[in-house]
Amino acid sequence: MPTIISVGSGKGGVGKSVVSSNMAYLLSQSGLSVTLLDLDAGGADLHVLMGLFKPDLTLTDFIEKRVSNLNEVAQRLDGFAGVKIVAGTGDSLFTANMPAATRLKLLRHIRLIESDVVIIDVGAGTHFNTLDFFLTADIHICVTTGDPTAILDLYRFVKLAVIRKALSSFLSYDNVSKVLRKKDIKDIDELLLIASEYGEDKKQAIYNSIKEINPFILFNQVEQTPEARFSRIRDLLQTYLKVSNLELLGRIPEDRELRKSVKAYQPVTSLKPGASSSIALKMACNKLLRLGSL
Ligand SMILES: Nc1ncnc2c1ncn2[C@@H]1O[C@H](COP(=O)(O)OP(=O)(O)OP(=O)(O)O)[C@@H](O)[C@H]1O
Ligand SMILES: [Mg+2]
Repeated sequence: MPTIISVGSGKGGVGKSVVSSNMAYLLSQSGLSVTLLDLDAGGADLHVLMGLFKPDLTLTDFIEKRVSNLNEVAQRLDGFAGVKIVAGTGDSLFTANMPAATRLKLLRHIRLIESDVVIIDVGAGTHFNTLDFFLTADIHICVTTGDPTAILDLYRFVKLAVIRKALSSFLSYDNVSKVLRKKDIKDIDELLLIASEYGEDKKQAIYNSIKEINPFILFNQVEQTPEARFSRIRDLLQTYLKVSNLELLGRIPEDRELRKSVKAYQPVTSLKPGASSSIALKMACNKLLRLGSL
């Protein structure tokens, strides 16, 4: 089974797809086979970042049952040995708004992808689909810029992911589940308070499920060392969401070469390995290899 890495953020345009494509290339360079999975159903563009303009098949072919598994959709990329892509398109309303049953089938099939690593670009927003694609991974990467709005969106994204994860720790017929699913839960304390009314074990189940979310934070387009910002995010997530195992993955500077590489339809790490953003991405990738048990 592959190790699954998800890349999320909450906010659009902060660098999720750039990070996904470059991580795929770098991990393949270290000898791992990688499949990029574009689950940004509303705005899929990962294939373009990898120089593929007209995929033979896309996620839509799987969703609409023209193929029976994701391995049939995964396409090799010219010039990137060891990297395949399951391209999204978003050109089908059904794909962009897939119902729960389709989402569950897709989640099952991700584990059946034949490669060492699967990198999921989950897209922006906090739709149930997006949160579940993010949560299904073994390793979670949250990308943010230094902007207060990006950090606020990141906090909201992790909060809703944590609530979704906690709710999924109860079986649907469990009493506490029936109550919680009907409520619009605002924060973790509210969730813990309601759960504790049904017993300490319910409260503990929530704590245990939160422990499974240990996101890596990757700052993008940030010039200064991000330690102070990272500490603030860590304190926020720890105090209000009980998420305690946060790791700083690194900082990518704003870099013209990266912008140029997007226009050249190639990851910057492959086009310009010596560029400042490439060096930063390589450091982040090495940290992931060290800490992410890849
Ligand atoms: N470190 C950087 N230096 C310079 N430009 C960057 C950097 N990171 C991202 N960009 C620019 O920002 C654009 C958006 O990045 P990207 O497509 O990865 O964001 P995204 O989070 O995937 O967006 P969306 O939510 O719309 O899918 C890139 O095309 C690139 O031009
Ligand atoms: Mg994107």
